[in-house]
Amino acid sequence: MKLLVLNGPNLNMLGIREPAIYGRETYQTLCDRVRAHCAEKGLEVELYQSNHEGDLIDKIQAAYGNADGIVINPGGYTHTSVALADALKAVSLPAVEVHLSDVNSREPFRQISYVRAACLKTVTGKGIDGYLEAVDFLANYRGENQ
Ligand code: DQA
Repeated sequence: MKLLVLNGPNLNMLGIREPAIYGRETYQTLCDRVRAHCAEKGLEVELYQSNHEGDLIDKIQAAYGNADGIVINPGGYTHTSVALADALKAVSLPAVEVHLSDVNSREPFRQISYVRAACLKTVTGKGIDGYLEAVDFLANYRGENQ
């Protein structure tokens, strides 16, 4: 089973950006922890981060026929991007939306998610552990649905 773990704008700044909200762990640590978790579970994983909406859409489209599931933290595009939601719907791969922070208890604009309707599940407010939960969810989902 192969998973794509996508991170949107500013997630490369983890550890530096607003540590009181996003924590002190870096994007590199996030990648290391996701890779280690997937290796433990016998899952193949590709991690990709971009600050550009079109790059993220290209990556989702390229996952069609090449990946079995998508974990996505679209960063700020969560709250603005119809196009990212459309891309997820277009490839129709099982997807989980992840946010490090608890977006539901932050500003009202963060409580709107366009991608949510294209995802099977949303994990918020659990930091990097949320990505691991999303990976486990997709692994179990595949186990039950193939
Ligand atoms: C975020 C929450 C978004 O509102 C914000 O724009 C981000 C990160 C999170 O992981 O908590 O960039 O997706």
